[in-house]
Amino acid sequence: MQRRHFLSSSSAALGAASLSTLMPTARAAGRERLRLGLIGTGMRGQVLLTELLRRDDVEVVALCDIEPIMLGRALAMVERFKKAKPQTYGESGDKLAYRKLLEQKGLDGVIIATPWELHASMAIDAMNAKVPVGCEVVAGITLQDHWDVLRTQQRTGTPYMLLENVCYRRDVMAVLQMVRAGLFGELVHLQGGYQHDLRAVKFNNGDPNKPYGSGVEFGAKGWSEARWRTEHSVQRNGELYPSHGIGPCAMYANIHRGNRFTHINAFASKARGLNDYISKKMGAKDHPSAKVKFKLGDVVTTTLACENGETIILQHDTSLPRPYSLGFRVQGTDGLWMDLNHSIHIEGISKPHQWEDFKAYQDKFDHPLWKKYAAKAEGAGHGGMDFFVVHAFVEALKANAPMPIDIYDAVAWSAITPLSEQSIAEGFKTLAFPDFTEGLWKTRKPIFAFDDKY
Ligand SMILES: NC(=O)c1ccc[n+]([C@@H]2O[C@H](COP(=O)([O-])OP(=O)(O)OC[C@H]3O[C@@H](n4cnc5c(N)ncnc54)[C@H](O)[C@@H]3O)[C@@H](O)[C@H]2O)c1
Repeated sequence: MQRRHFLSSSSAALGAASLSTLMPTARAAGRERLRLGLIGTGMRGQVLLTELLRRDDVEVVALCDIEPIMLGRALAMVERFKKAKPQTYGESGDKLAYRKLLEQKGLDGVIIATPWELHASMAIDAMNAKVPVGCEVVAGITLQDHWDVLRTQQRTGTPYMLLENVCYRRDVMAVLQMVRAGLFGELVHLQGGYQHDLRAVKFNNGDPNKPYGSGVEFGAKGWSEARWRTEHSVQRNGELYPSHGIGPCAMYANIHRGNRFTHINAFASKARGLNDYISKKMGAKDHPSAKVKFKLGDVVTTTLACENGETIILQHDTSLPRPYSLGFRVQGTDGLWMDLNHSIHIEGISKPHQWEDFKAYQDKFDHPLWKKYAAKAEGAGHGGMDFFVVHAFVEALKANAPMPIDIYDAVAWSAITPLSEQSIAEGFKTLAFPDFTEGLWKTRKPIFAFDDKY
């Protein structure tokens, strides 16, 4: 029944979408409970683990990390929740121990929360082993990575979801309802980004108990993200973290479902913030980190053009002092919303040329998912949205349904990084954006968050 329902609803709702990209694995039909594994039990892995442990319909049966302290912290969490002890992998430091986890019998899925450079190969191995994947942002590093992840998903039919949590932010979802209700008229322009002062995340003194701002080490001497993320600021210049900004914008603009990205270019400012932080703010001008030449421009601005005529601007801004803001703007023929000032202006409703407070709109257009699960999301990471992204992965997997943030979303959103790098490297050149759907975008229909299920 479940399977028949899946096949009929998917072919009707998703038009000519290739069934191989959506086909669930045979053993995955209609389950009440899932046995899940987690690869990477670092800072993010532990947040996701909490969401898994809070659920009655998930058994965490396997954990893998090559850092014994992180693995130990995850095991202690399982104990605190009084759940059965999972099988563990990686304590010896074997970087490929996760492959043993993938061989564990009866695994219904795996969540990957490791450094960016490992996501593509780990997801590919999981999909080849027919273990459904929930992958932390981003999907891969190079353009080829993204094609490889896509092709593996298509060949194996293994479900894959990018765990992009900002799509589930309460105001972002209310705005989705407003877009769908036509409140903004026809969409014309969107903005978003990742504007987050990460200076204290990119450097520490390597002490596992002081991961933020305790020093100026990175790489092997750093801890958590300082151990790997900072190196990307040394080696790469581009929109390094696109999905938090582009995810909601892509859902608003129905990308891959009647629309697609056609062109991209990017500009990068000079890089000053990290050296200034080390030398002046941390007073470590003689430390070797102060002499490092960081390639990543402090503010990287990426522009995308869409088939239906919208433009999208993303800004990556992680090396300068600033309060956190993703900088969303949704603008159409009838008005606009900007998250920075929690304001909206709708022609004919708002006073001419004046902002209105967003609160009344938030209440009126609150998404059914949030109305239903707000209490459960209470206390979950990032203002509750981490509950929803895990919920979506688990429920879609249980129902054997298409993933709400699917393989095409994953690869196109993440491929913004290598394409923006290429644009900058080639003198801010405008590039054609590859059509990962190979034409399917014309007939696929939106499926993200249409009801209160996931
Ligand atoms: N969606 C969000 O809001 C959000 C927030 C934070 C981080 N993240 C993402 O989560 C991922 C992890 O980030 P983090 O902050 O937890 O970093 P982290 O450094 O704290 O954790 C990464 C973990 O992966 C482990 N690891 C490294 N190589 C491994 C291997 N070969 N096998 C098994 N484990 C391995 C490390 O030992 C570490 O414990 C990144 O992709 C990051 O971008 C997402």
